[in-house]
Amino acid sequence: MSKANGKVAVVTGSSRGIGAAIVERLAADGFTVVINYAAGAAEAEALARKIEQAGGRAITAQADVSNGAAVARLFDMADAAFGGVDLLVNNAGIMRLASLAEADEALFDSQVAINLKGTFNTLREASRRLRNGGRIVNLSSSQTSLLHPSYGVYAATKAAVEAMTHVLARELRGRNITVNAVAPGPTATKLFLDGKPNEVIERLKNLAPLERLGEPSDIAAAVSFLAGPDGGWINGQVLRANGGII
Ligand SMILES: NC(=O)c1ccc[n+]([C@@H]2O[C@H](COP(=O)([O-])OP(=O)(O)OC[C@H]3O[C@@H](n4cnc5c(N)ncnc54)[C@H](OP(=O)(O)O)[C@@H]3O)[C@@H](O)[C@H]2O)c1
Repeated sequence: MSKANGKVAVVTGSSRGIGAAIVERLAADGFTVVINYAAGAAEAEALARKIEQAGGRAITAQADVSNGAAVARLFDMADAAFGGVDLLVNNAGIMRLASLAEADEALFDSQVAINLKGTFNTLREASRRLRNGGRIVNLSSSQTSLLHPSYGVYAATKAAVEAMTHVLARELRGRNITVNAVAPGPTATKLFLDGKPNEVIERLKNLAPLERLGEPSDIAAAVSFLAGPDGGWINGQVLRANGGII
């Protein structure tokens, strides 16, 4: 654990998977962390205890990112506990796959609500409340470029996240706040692995010249770079963290 850097990070959807790895990495970098979740209270609490035992500072905060009022309360909780927010990582997301012919409205609405509206809710709150000099990192997906069959709705929500990344970077002129996105490729988490036959996982694993799936820690390292001192001149960019798939 590095010495505390005096900065506060809110990471949405960080009870497990990539979000949990981001929280662990940021805590190790010296950030005080707010672990947001929708349903996974026990996992979030266990992660907070682990960070505290390693000498870091963490709280958990339940909020469904698709609910604007809940997101405002999430920032209120961070303010009350730590006096403000310096870094927002928009990680909460879901993936539901189906061809456009077979996708139903529930598949469309759920992904738009969490991936797109959820990111809108937190970006709006952060643009009003983030301390000057802060950072924002949005999680996109390499599917915005790979565009594989069945990923249509998911990729569309992430393309919209990339669009907001570029626009917000410009809107925050004068505040010394950077806004970037990290676009992972296939990464070994519940979201990616659930429901996929082994042969599909093997095929996707071998798409990358580095011949493996991404690990959550690989993605956390990219976020850490954009959130840390070495990433300060990167603004309005999408960093593909995918082992070279595209
Ligand atoms: N894994 C990949 O291959 C991959 C590739 C490209 C991009 N990504 C992106 O990376 C991000 C993290 O994905 P992951 O693979 O780590 O997924 P994951 O293992 O399914 O974890 C998703 C996290 O989001 C939380 N969450 C879900 N809905 C939420 C909501 N409405 N409000 C707040 N939190 C919510 C979940 O917590 P609860 O259980 O508490 O709801 C969980 O902590 C996503 O944005 C995903 O699209 C992943």
